[in-house]
Amino acid sequence: MPVRIVIGAQWGDEGKGKIVDLLSADAQYVVRYQGGANAGHTLKFDNTTIVLHLIPSGLFNGNSKCIIGNGVVIDPIALVEELEEVQEHDVDLEGRLFISSSAHLILPYHKVLDKVKEKSRGSDAIGTTGRGIGPAYVSKVSRIGIRMDDLLDENALNSKIRKNLKDINVALENVYGEDPLDADKMIEELKPAIEKVKPFVCNTSQKLHQALIDGESILLEGAQGSLLDVDHGTYPYVTSSCPTAGGACTGSGIPPLAVTHAMGITKAYCTRVGNGPFPTELDDEYGETLRKNGQEFGATTGRPRRCGWLDLVALKYAVQLNGMNELALTKLDVLDDFDEIKVCTEYELDGKTSRVFPLDTENVEKATPVYKAFEGWKSSTRDISNFEDLPEKAKNYISFIEDYTGVKFNIISTGPKRSETIVR
Ligand code: GDP
Ligand code: IMO
Ligand code: MG
Repeated sequence: MPVRIVIGAQWGDEGKGKIVDLLSADAQYVVRYQGGANAGHTLKFDNTTIVLHLIPSGLFNGNSKCIIGNGVVIDPIALVEELEEVQEHDVDLEGRLFISSSAHLILPYHKVLDKVKEKSRGSDAIGTTGRGIGPAYVSKVSRIGIRMDDLLDENALNSKIRKNLKDINVALENVYGEDPLDADKMIEELKPAIEKVKPFVCNTSQKLHQALIDGESILLEGAQGSLLDVDHGTYPYVTSSCPTAGGACTGSGIPPLAVTHAMGITKAYCTRVGNGPFPTELDDEYGETLRKNGQEFGATTGRPRRCGWLDLVALKYAVQLNGMNELALTKLDVLDDFDEIKVCTEYELDGKTSRVFPLDTENVEKATPVYKAFEGWKSSTRDISNFEDLPEKAKNYISFIEDYTGVKFNIISTGPKRSETIVR
């Protein structure tokens, strides 16, 4: 049975939530493997819209079991808010949701650190979501992190929080000129959330190993996107985890050789939230139209997303980085009104053209996109669910991307709803 990783092929917000929800009907397990509540994955079906931040997008279509893997960083307060929201939609989480005992916690001090560090970076700020992601992964790799299994022993948990806070308060007061945080107050505020989260904590790698033995179908849901990967993205303007395919294995306990499919999700254009280089960004009326027609405002922070034409140099890099053998194209309908649509096929750098995505951020910043222009199809593709019904000019656009990347689109999305999809 397939073990499929679903990965953002750009800078996040490609429509991973929609695609995972769609595919989850045929999956026994859906697993988040990295990131935290910085993610915002939107699901739309019938008259329902749900934005998930931590819970995998597999609860609403079929009966798959959902796992928050060891690679995720979990803010217990944010998680409880989300559990309650999901329960309002009549989903019984017992036997459906499992949280890795090895996943690390995001505590209130991580969120405070995220904010004060961003403030102190001034004009070099990364534009983080402020959800404490970077500082939580710092705690993890510094080996002072607190994990979900620590929730099971209250005394030990409290003494770890106090110990960590002692050091953090020194930094808050002396480096950042902020007020220290109160450990007792923090522990008290966390208590109710911890009690609600505890029953879901278990050994999720073992569950997944058994699922592999039983030949069950597993979907691994990436958050963020390949170009936000801490190793392979536009460093330092990245998140602090590995959304790319390798991260799916370390973040879940699934061995690389068990993976059968790597599906990249790309929009028919590009967006980015936060700071950092974005070669095809449009600071003009076209960018504004993409933002308006695509409703490009952050699902987590509400920030307007930066918009630009599709960047094939970056997409091909993502395909190679992840070994993507499947692609899904989303938001094709957002291009319906354009007279002309462009795609970047090469970068011009220091007088030379290249199809290689530079690894240093300064060169990505400097790269001038070379475009190929397509005539727009100027008709509605919204809701089309049969490939043959797409306008010829849209088919040409799609097949050019497929030829460039060498990968076919198995899925083409023509609207936010589950039903607005072409599956080939
Ligand atoms: P994710 O983080 O990758 O899951 O993506 P987000 O949920 O942050 O952003 C994608 C947005 O586009 C959401 O509002 C989706 O409802 C919407 N969306 C997804 N696919 C399509 C599509 O094909 N067409 C349109 N118009 N909207 C889409
Ligand atoms: P989904 O899963 C888009 C961006 C932030 C910032 C950078 C670092 O919905 O695609 P962080 O808070 O992670 O330390 O911020 O990463 N970012 C995202 N951009 N989609 C996301 O998630 C993102 N998660 C983080 O805007 O630039
Ligand atoms: Mg999102």
